[in-house]
Amino acid sequence: MTHHKGVNLRDVKVNDTQEFIQVRPYQEGSLEDLWQVRSSCESGRIVALKCSECGLLPRAVRVVGGTEVSPGRWPWQVSLYHGSQHHCGGSVLAREWIVTAAHCVHRRLQASAWLVFAGVTTHGSMKQEAGVSVKKIIYHPLYNDSSLDYDIAVMKLQVPLNFSDAIRAVCLPPPHQDLFQGTQCWVSGWGYTRPDQGQVAETLNEAPVPLIGTKRCNSSCVYGGELTARMLCAGYLPGKIDACQGDSGGPLVCQDRFAWRLVGIVSWGRGCAEPNHPGVYTNVAQLLPWIYRVTEIY
Ligand code: ARG
Repeated sequence: MTHHKGVNLRDVKVNDTQEFIQVRPYQEGSLEDLWQVRSSCESGRIVALKCSECGLLPRAVRVVGGTEVSPGRWPWQVSLYHGSQHHCGGSVLAREWIVTAAHCVHRRLQASAWLVFAGVTTHGSMKQEAGVSVKKIIYHPLYNDSSLDYDIAVMKLQVPLNFSDAIRAVCLPPPHQDLFQGTQCWVSGWGYTRPDQGQVAETLNEAPVPLIGTKRCNSSCVYGGELTARMLCAGYLPGKIDACQGDSGGPLVCQDRFAWRLVGIVSWGRGCAEPNHPGVYTNVAQLLPWIYRVTEIY
């Protein structure tokens, strides 16, 4: 929801078959638990909600083992420049909000040092644009710099993005959705396309990466208990395809019946695309209350 206002029933057009949802006040819990369907509106006072569109693909990535993409393929992907360099990826949540990894902004909290590039896939084209300035950077208070637990941050932009075919918001996942291992998801970014290359990619790359169950990923031959509940794994145990340096903060998205959702944020991995060391992502569904709280307050 991006905007709401109170209106009088007599000022809006309703037909006879229209039903109302009554929201009972003063109760804890989610909106879905509080509402009741009514055939009439006794008070005559209603609330108009303006919802934000997200997760839609238009008509129409350091990622190791991936493929180059053109603008509009992942319209929520942004490049975060620190100084004059690509530093991390990020995702558009709303016109004024970008979500990224806490380890990208930690010790770099000066908002004026950052620029956000949306709607473009090559660094060549970013260099010809002004970019969007950042007003505020907020990272999770429980972020742990050594374990990378709670690796999430948001940036509020100085000016709202203009949405287009090439710039759109990604949806957040629902709070209680089972993430089944093997679900095909996608990672995108400008990170290294070869682990030893030491240079970010000129063009955005994408790669398909299936989710890996936490039990498996935390087993002794993989990450041996290093994963917390705020992390999830995606990729391949034989290696070869993975996110890498420079992809951090960027999206891991999975498509459900309705939309593309930001299931993970590129966080860490041992090396890149190595056997038994798949990519580790921030588990976004576990951090929704924090996202909603900060984007509501600031
Ligand atoms: N920490 C890295 C960054 O800052 C991302 C590492 C992701 N590694 C991986 N193997 N998936 O860009």
